[in-house]
Amino acid sequence: MKKIFLTLTAVVIPFLTGTAQIKNPIYKDKKAPIEARIENLISLMTLEEKIMQMNQWTYGKNANPNNIGEIMKAANPEIGSLLYRSTNPEYRNQIQKKAMTETRLGIPIIFGFDAIHGYRTVFPIPLAQACSWNTELVKQSCAITAKESWLSGLDWTFSPMLDVARDARWGRVSEGYGEDTYANSVFAVAAVQGYQGENLADKYTIAACLKHYIGYSLSEGGRDYHYSDISNQTLWETFMPPFEAGIKAGAATVMCGFNDISGIPASANHYTLTEILKRKWGHQGFVISDWGSIRNLVEQSVAKDLKEAATKSVLAGVEMDMVDNAYLDYLPELVKEGKVPMATIDEAVRRIIRVKMKLGLFENPYVDVVPEKKRYLLPEYLKVAEELAAESMVLLKNKKQTLPITDKYKNLAIIGPMVKDSVHIMGFWEGMGRPEDVETIFDGLQKEFKNKATLNYALGCNFEGEDKSGFAEALAAAKKSDAVVVFLGEKRNWSGENGSRSTIALPKIQEELVAELQKAGKPIILMLSSGRPLELIRLNEMADAIVEIWQPGTVAGSSVAGILSGRHNPSGKLSITFPQTTGQIPIYYNMREAARPDLGHYQDIPRDALYWFGHGLSYTTYEYSPIKLSKTKIQKGEKIIAEVEVTNAGSRDGKETVQWFVKDPFATISRPMKELKYFEKKEIKSGEKVVYRFEIDPMRDLSYLDSVGVRHLEAGDFYVIVNNQKIKFELVD
Ligand code: GLC
Repeated sequence: MKKIFLTLTAVVIPFLTGTAQIKNPIYKDKKAPIEARIENLISLMTLEEKIMQMNQWTYGKNANPNNIGEIMKAANPEIGSLLYRSTNPEYRNQIQKKAMTETRLGIPIIFGFDAIHGYRTVFPIPLAQACSWNTELVKQSCAITAKESWLSGLDWTFSPMLDVARDARWGRVSEGYGEDTYANSVFAVAAVQGYQGENLADKYTIAACLKHYIGYSLSEGGRDYHYSDISNQTLWETFMPPFEAGIKAGAATVMCGFNDISGIPASANHYTLTEILKRKWGHQGFVISDWGSIRNLVEQSVAKDLKEAATKSVLAGVEMDMVDNAYLDYLPELVKEGKVPMATIDEAVRRIIRVKMKLGLFENPYVDVVPEKKRYLLPEYLKVAEELAAESMVLLKNKKQTLPITDKYKNLAIIGPMVKDSVHIMGFWEGMGRPEDVETIFDGLQKEFKNKATLNYALGCNFEGEDKSGFAEALAAAKKSDAVVVFLGEKRNWSGENGSRSTIALPKIQEELVAELQKAGKPIILMLSSGRPLELIRLNEMADAIVEIWQPGTVAGSSVAGILSGRHNPSGKLSITFPQTTGQIPIYYNMREAARPDLGHYQDIPRDALYWFGHGLSYTTYEYSPIKLSKTKIQKGEKIIAEVEVTNAGSRDGKETVQWFVKDPFATISRPMKELKYFEKKEIKSGEKVVYRFEIDPMRDLSYLDSVGVRHLEAGDFYVIVNNQKIKFELVD
C-alpha cells in the first residue's frame, strides 16, 4: 500500500506542479540530429520557459566595480545562464542538478565568466600577448584558461575581446590585440581554438564570446561607454574582419558593445547583429548583451523605458539579456501585444539551446570535482605563463647595449613601486588570480641574480601623489650601484574597463624619481608595467634602456628577471603604437596618407610616433636579405611568393617575427600607408639563416572591403614591405 502511495505521489505531484519530466523526448536523445532535438524542445516549451532561457543572472561576489546595481539572485533553476563568480565546481553542480531534475524540461544552465587572460593562472594582458606574435603560445594560454575555468564550474568565457585599438586614452586597449585589424583577426582564431578546442563537447573546453561587437574602441575621446562615430568604410575595413574571422573559427557566442554606432546602439543594431552577423556570416550561436547595455538604451535616448529597450534589442538580434531582467519583465506582454513575434523568441531560444547542445550540457551537465592543487597553477601552466610573458615584453631602447645585465654589473639598484607589487602586475580582468600566487619582480630578481649581483632595493615613490620622501634613499641606492633598474607603471584599474585617462603619461612623481636618480650618473634601465602605451617623450631621454613589460601576470618575477639577465632574449614587437605625447593620439601605423604628407603635423612635437607598431629590439642582431619575389607581374588569379632570408648575426640565439606588409599606392578609395597581411615568428640560432616566405593571394591580401562589405580587387602596382625594405610588383586584370 505504502509503495503504491509513494509511486502515485512521485508521479501525480510533479505533474500537478508542472515539474513532471517528459519521458524520453527526442531532445534528450543524443543520437538524434541536433536541429531535430532543438525543434522538439522548443515545441514543448512554454513562453515563460523560453523567456527564462534568454536571461543571465549573476551568482557570487561582484568582482567588477563598474557593474553597479548588481542584484544577487537565488539561482532559479529555469534560468538560461549564470554569470558564475565562484571557483567552486560543487556549487555549480548543485545548481545544475536542480535545473536537470527539478524543472519540467531539465534544460541545463550555461555558466559564464570573464576569464580574459587566465583564470587562476594569470597570463599577460591580451595587448601584451599580441606583442609576442606567438599565436601558438596564445592558443596554449587560452586552452589552460579553459581547463582551469571548466574545472571551476564554467562552460563559457566572455573572451576574446577584438576591439581594434585606436585611442590609448581608452583603458580597454589593454584587453584586445592592439591597433591592427589583421593581428586581431589572427589572435581571434588562436583564442577561439584555444578555448573551444577540437570539440566544444569535450571536457576542459569552454565557449568563446567575441566582444564587444562592434566598434566599441572608437568610444569618443577614449571615454569608455561613449558613442562611436564610425563610417561604414571604417566599420568594414577596420572592425569587421576580426569578428568575421572569429565566427569562421566557430566562436559559439558574441557580446554586443555599450557604444552606439553612429547613432544606433550596438545593442539594438539590426544591421550588425542580424544582417551581417547572422545572415551574411552565418553565425549559428547567440548574442548576449553587455552588462546593462539593454537598459542603457534608455540613457542613449533610443528607448523611452526598459520595455521599449527590450523590444529594440530582441528585434535587433540580442538573444540573451545580461542581468537587466528586461526580457524577463517585458517579453511576455510584448509577445501577447504582438510587438515581438513568437518566431523571434523561438529563434533566440533555438540559438541558445544550440550552444548548450554543442557544449554537450544535456548529456554532461556536471563538471569533475578535483582538488584545487590539481586544478590551478600547475607547473606546466606556469611555464607557459613565463614564456608568454617574456615573449610579450618589448625592448624599446637599448643604448650602448646597456642590457642584458651581465657580470659587468655587480651591484644593481632596484627601485620603484612595481618591484614588490603583486596586484597591479596582473592587470585588469585578473579573473580569479590571487596576489598571493604572484611571483613578484623582486622575488624573480633575487632568484635570477643570486650569487651574481647585489640588489640594493628602494621604493623611491608610490604610483602617484606628491611624497618624495623616498627619493633620498633611492638616490643613495643608485649611487652605490653599477646600474639603476627602475620599475614604474600603472595601477591595474588605470586601464581596463572604465579606465579612461586624460593623459597616458605616468604620474609626475614617477618621472621626477627618474630625474632624481639621474644624479647618480649610472646607466638607467626603465622597466614599465602598463595596460596601454605610455607617453615617454621625457622618460625616453632619461633612460639608457627601456623595456615595456606590460602586465605580465602570475609569473612576473621570472619573466622580467629573465629578460634583464638575458636568459630570455627579447622578441616582442609592439602591437600598438607609442605616441610622443597624449596629444598625438590617434596615431597608428596604418593611417591613410594626408593630402599634404609633410605638413599639418603638430608643431610642438616630432612628427613621428615615439615607437611605432612593430618596433622591438633584441639582444642579438638580425640581418635581412633583399626581398625576393617569384614574379613581378601577376594576373588576378595567380599568387606570388615573397621571400626574405634573415641571419642572426649576433652571439645570442633568438626568435624573430617577420611582419609582411602590403601597400596599394593607387586605388578607387584612399588606402592605408601600409597594411599588415602576414607574420611569422621563428627561432634563429646565433650565426644561422632562416628563410621566411609569404604567399600573396591577391583576393585575400591586395583587395579592400568597401562601405557595404563588398571586396574589391583592383589591378595596378603594389608593394611588399618588410623591415623597411619595399619592392614593387604589378597586378594585371
Ligand atoms: C562588463 C564588460 C564586459 C564583461 C561583462 C561581464 O561591463 O563590458 O566586457 O564581459 O561586463 O562582466
